[in-house]
Amino acid sequence: MTIHTVATSPFSGQRPGTSGLRKKVTEFQTPGYLENFVEAIFTTLGDCSGLTLALGGDGRYFNRTAIQVILRMAAAHGVARMLVGRRGLMSTPAVSCVIRKRGANGGIVLSASHNPGGPHGDFGIKYNIENGGPAPEKITEAIFANTHALTSYRISDAPPVDIDTIGKTRIESMEVEVIDPVADYAGLMESLFDFGAIRALFARGFTMRFDGMHAASGPYAKAIIEGMLGAPAGTVINAEPLEDFGGHHPDPNPVNAAELIALMAGASAPDFGAASDGDGDRNMIVGRNFVVTPSDSLAIIAANATVAPGYREGIRGIARSMPTSTAADRVAEALGVSCFETPTGWKYFGNLMDAGLATLCGEESYGTGSSHIREKDGVWAVLFWLNILAATGKSVPQLVREHWQRFGRNYYSRHDYEAVDPAAAEDVMADLRHKLPLLAGHTYGGHRIALADDFAYTDPVDKSVAMHQGIRIVMTDGSRIVLRLSGTGTEGATVRLYLERYEADTARHDLDTQEALAPLAAIAEQISGLRKRTGRERPSVIT
Ligand code: G6P
Ligand code: ZN
Repeated sequence: MTIHTVATSPFSGQRPGTSGLRKKVTEFQTPGYLENFVEAIFTTLGDCSGLTLALGGDGRYFNRTAIQVILRMAAAHGVARMLVGRRGLMSTPAVSCVIRKRGANGGIVLSASHNPGGPHGDFGIKYNIENGGPAPEKITEAIFANTHALTSYRISDAPPVDIDTIGKTRIESMEVEVIDPVADYAGLMESLFDFGAIRALFARGFTMRFDGMHAASGPYAKAIIEGMLGAPAGTVINAEPLEDFGGHHPDPNPVNAAELIALMAGASAPDFGAASDGDGDRNMIVGRNFVVTPSDSLAIIAANATVAPGYREGIRGIARSMPTSTAADRVAEALGVSCFETPTGWKYFGNLMDAGLATLCGEESYGTGSSHIREKDGVWAVLFWLNILAATGKSVPQLVREHWQRFGRNYYSRHDYEAVDPAAAEDVMADLRHKLPLLAGHTYGGHRIALADDFAYTDPVDKSVAMHQGIRIVMTDGSRIVLRLSGTGTEGATVRLYLERYEADTARHDLDTQEALAPLAAIAEQISGLRKRTGRERPSVIT
């Protein structure tokens, strides 16, 4: 075994986005592309001797290749120990769990989350720090700066490591330990939730379908829901991770998990439905003929949190991303705890959780989680719902309706305009920014604008500032229109339009969501000209 220093030159565009570096697989296959980015990570870490890192991915195409390259580079940089998930698999929340439980210094997650996989799909790589969470911006920016400064990378020429068998081997002086990717995580879940009550629920004949979408959460859901909680075999479907996710889009929303939605709307619908995404950190919750919005899910978990043993003492605070509906704010108020509004991206929750300011966090993008780890967590959210259903004996629709009766309903929808011309998207945003100072006080279609700004966030813990995090137009009745550019797309630009309308009156809690929000959508178009400027008649995806 020899360590080589290989000459290289920088690639442009290696700036990590909302959640790490995501590019087409073909781009990652360009010689040196992956190596350069990994070198930039190690350069940012500095002296790597003595470091223990976790490593795993969602199993998508190129995962196994990347694992071997990263191992050989880690060895060349003097990393002491690498904890690798068997078969190169580890869901994002499990990486976070392993880093924390085993006291690792950080970890590398290989995933493009919910983006399609396969040779023509996407690949991604993300660095997590020792609290188990995504690296904050100062680190991702340092990595980016290092991608520009590279002239070489270091790599061992060791042969591939067997990552399919649990056990220890070495590359150079680095120990490689292949671990069961499920065990630590399953133990953590058992400590948080009332497994006895959930087991009894299944024993009473409660039925459920969990769609693993042929991605990372399948093995976790199978081991926990079917194995530890005794749900019948077949409860977890599409459980085997596949390199191309079976050709599907592993994004748990009503559009991409259409099969599950159809099942839940049919005559033979089980009591409860759920799905997770490519790397297992997202979740979708569905009842019989009833889809729960992620914003409502966060609020309902918060309102019922104390039924779960891990949260029996109550929650310390809630945090939600700015575009997420304000349903959770109402629960926080009732509980007498703080509610933080952060920019989009799970990394912004890390400091709040580390400082003990927030226990529960959530995003409209089907992300929910808590301070048990520092990533959002799909299976955790599903188990929380199961715990609430077991403790209350209520159905999903009943729970949600009762929540609305108590707190009011926040009608909510996201309209995505995908793969639009980046210049047109920038135009829309720039033009809106210009208009902002003039909007407050104006009335559009009966809605008076109370506040219009370009969201900026000052982290209450380290006082770091994130600017230009999305346009926020808030009406006097609490309704909101939010527009921002996605930071996770890999093709052109994606403009997201988020619509929210608050309705206190129980008699108006059964409107069709799109109809309820149509007036706000019209105002958004009137102010932004989004459709006109991007040449689109309608959004490409509505969730
Ligand atoms: C990932 C991130 C989330 C984010 C979501 C959408 O899942 O982890 O924090 O909310 O992407 O981000 P985007 O920038 O595409 O709206
Ligand atoms: Zn994900």
